[in-house]
Amino acid sequence: MGLMRDALLAGSRSVWLRERAVRLGFVKRAVSRFMPGETLDDALGAARALASRKLSVVLTCLGENVTSLAETEGVARHYLEAMEAARAAGLDVELSVKLTQLGLDLDAGLALSHVDRIAARAAELTQRLWIDMEDSRYTEGTLDLYRKLRRARPNAGLCLQSYLRRTAADLETLIPLGSAIRLVKGAYNEPAAMAFPEKRDVDESYFALAKRLLSEEARRLGCYAAFGTHDRNLIRRIEEEAARAKAPREAFEFELLYGIQTGEQARLAASGTRVRVLISYGSFWFPWYMRRLAERPANVLFVARRMFGG
Ligand code: FDA
Repeated sequence: MGLMRDALLAGSRSVWLRERAVRLGFVKRAVSRFMPGETLDDALGAARALASRKLSVVLTCLGENVTSLAETEGVARHYLEAMEAARAAGLDVELSVKLTQLGLDLDAGLALSHVDRIAARAAELTQRLWIDMEDSRYTEGTLDLYRKLRRARPNAGLCLQSYLRRTAADLETLIPLGSAIRLVKGAYNEPAAMAFPEKRDVDESYFALAKRLLSEEARRLGCYAAFGTHDRNLIRRIEEEAARAKAPREAFEFELLYGIQTGEQARLAASGTRVRVLISYGSFWFPWYMRRLAERPANVLFVARRMFGG
């Protein structure tokens, strides 16, 4: 299972594979399970259907490691337009952005100015703007940018990964800022020196971080928690911890990916817990999709079945 994960994550970085795989019909059919379509309209259509089931949405336009300044400007403009389109449609939608799609590899100041512009508009619409966490080459730069952004944009939220050994210490520096934190396990291939190799350690790290975010102190300082996971055991433990810590429902939410654990999404919404479904769209879906396959070996069988028309 570890080998398959490693192979899929290595494949996620292959340009050769990407250029070929995205043209294959059976791959596209398999991807549709996690993605309603490539366009913003497809994503908004799915958001509308989810809204009828009391589920709010986070949108992300797929893309990473953008190499031209003009492209980063196009991405920022697209996100501003997406916010207006969601507002016009009357949908409760927030955005999540990747900093390398907004130029972090090229110029951190430029990435900050793009994300600041998007966060400013989100604030006017009383929405949070979420920042994804990419692989560990970007952890320091992302934290640094977030701290600068957070001074002017209290509505900015940051993703932290429980598999990284450093995250508990990073969280302690973010709590006094009253940060909004989306906690995830982490989706990249990281060396054991940086990330816990064992799943049970990643899960326990997740729960310890969740507990800290739900603590009375973190809430008093203005922190907000978004638990990005499909792990039903962890979700149950977090629900119990929230009750024990007397965290009000407005202090946290769960976030799940489109098409994954839909029963759990419905159960949480029916129980009155805040839930957002993250919908990805865009044509640059290959690396993102490979990370979804790596998360669950059964997904590879699913693709194989699609290959034969199932
Ligand atoms: P885990 O992998 O243990 O899975 C628990 C159960 O959930 C599985 O047994 C299975 O039933 C189901 N499941 C999980 N993944 C599945 C899949 N792909 N297909 C089908 N079923 C699946 N990562 C990152 O590094 N940076 C980021 O910015 C983000 N952002 C982000 C936002 C949101 C809203 C979510 C939900 C996730 C992310 N992630 C992420 C991804 C995250 O790091 C992690 O890889 C996945 O969420 C899978 O981990 P789980 O917590 O679901 O647990």
